Amino acid sequence: MQDLLGKHIVLGLTGGIACYKSAELCRLFVKAGATVQVVMTEAATQFMTPVTMQALSGRPVYVSQWDVREDNNMPHINLSREADAIVLAPCSADFIARLAEGRSDELLSLMCLARPIEQVPLLIAPAMNREMWAHPATQRNLQQVAADGATMLGVGSGWQACGETGDGRMLEPAQLLEDITAFFHAKLLVGQQVLVTAGPTFEALDPIRGITNHSSGKMGFAIARAAREAGAEVTLIAGPVHLPTPRGVRRIDVLSALEMLEAAEREAARASVFVATAAVADWRPASHSDQKIKKDGSGLPPVLNFVENPDILATVARSPRAASGALFCVGFAAESENLAAHAKAKRERKGIPLLVGNIGPLTFGQDDNSLLLVDADGVRELPRAPKLQLARELIAEIAARLPTRTSA
Ligand SMILES: Cc1cc2nc3c(=O)[nH]c(=O)nc-3n(C[C@H](O)[C@H](O)[C@H](O)COP(=O)(O)O)c2cc1C
Repeated sequence: MQDLLGKHIVLGLTGGIACYKSAELCRLFVKAGATVQVVMTEAATQFMTPVTMQALSGRPVYVSQWDVREDNNMPHINLSREADAIVLAPCSADFIARLAEGRSDELLSLMCLARPIEQVPLLIAPAMNREMWAHPATQRNLQQVAADGATMLGVGSGWQACGETGDGRMLEPAQLLEDITAFFHAKLLVGQQVLVTAGPTFEALDPIRGITNHSSGKMGFAIARAAREAGAEVTLIAGPVHLPTPRGVRRIDVLSALEMLEAAEREAARASVFVATAAVADWRPASHSDQKIKKDGSGLPPVLNFVENPDILATVARSPRAASGALFCVGFAAESENLAAHAKAKRERKGIPLLVGNIGPLTFGQDDNSLLLVDADGVRELPRAPKLQLARELIAEIAARLPTRTSA
């Protein structure tokens, strides 16, 4: 998806090994639809050539404030005025110290100081050795730079180029792209606690086998990500799926419907929005064998009995907090036919303000989907689109329906 279409990003590189990741970050920005202007410190050019960054961004790289290519000879003014954001990745300890002091003795720091603070956000992805990161001077400088209006994108933890292990690694390019994309989104859900269930459940027959369904969890994970982008605190209760956790989202893994119910009831007690996208098994085996069920030689299959699982959405929707309006409940219905009729009936049966219908076989495992929103006013279709785009549209619909809407 072209999440950054129309955005112009100035990508600043400072001196550190993590410059090798900035080549990929630049590529991801361009793939996401952004135009990218690279500016490098002299030290950064020791780690990555401007030629590589020029080739990837499609624009000549700026390194010096004395660059005569600009008619007015003021690249620091011209480049910063055009930007929707300046992203420093990697940002060295030395550069953070310079920003904290308001220094401007080379092009990149001069450009950061000369940018119109209200219009051009500065986003910082630090990268350094763990001792440099933990040093009080670095932490003091980071606090100062944040207090001066910059947005800190955080650091990763793990093996470092110096051979040590700890905090201070630059975040991976895909993580940075996710955070920077989120940065540009309208903060429609600031102050909201959003709880999402996603994926299938797995109802065990014995230690080896069980009953599940084709839900991939993609829609629920996209909703969790979109809610986070909108500024909410997000908890995601996930059945067994193979998906990475969206950035900034708290994830709780469960297997069975009973486990999912237990987690959902506990977490719903402090949520303000509950979105139930999980494809919860309607039934579970009546008994669970501790040992693998073996063939008994009779040639007959085992007799399996089932009991109905609790209805997680209806249970949460019946809670006093939902009834009082403190918890806004949204359900999903995966049907195979007669979507509008089934979705309307399900909304009334569950007693929820908003029900989202989709056709199961057309959504399970797919990257795109179409949704039918059913509320007290009627039915509205969100036409086929990538699940993340639909999730963002759904989050806007939810935000518009919340009793006390906070926006930033
Ligand atoms: C091999 C090598 C790797 C370095 N890696 C880092 C690093 O990851 N983070 C950092 O803050 N400084 C690192 N430094 C030190 C910076 O390059 C040095 O502080 C430099 O002055 C930064 O200049 P700049 O902030 O203008 O880019 C490294 C130095 C060397 C020689």
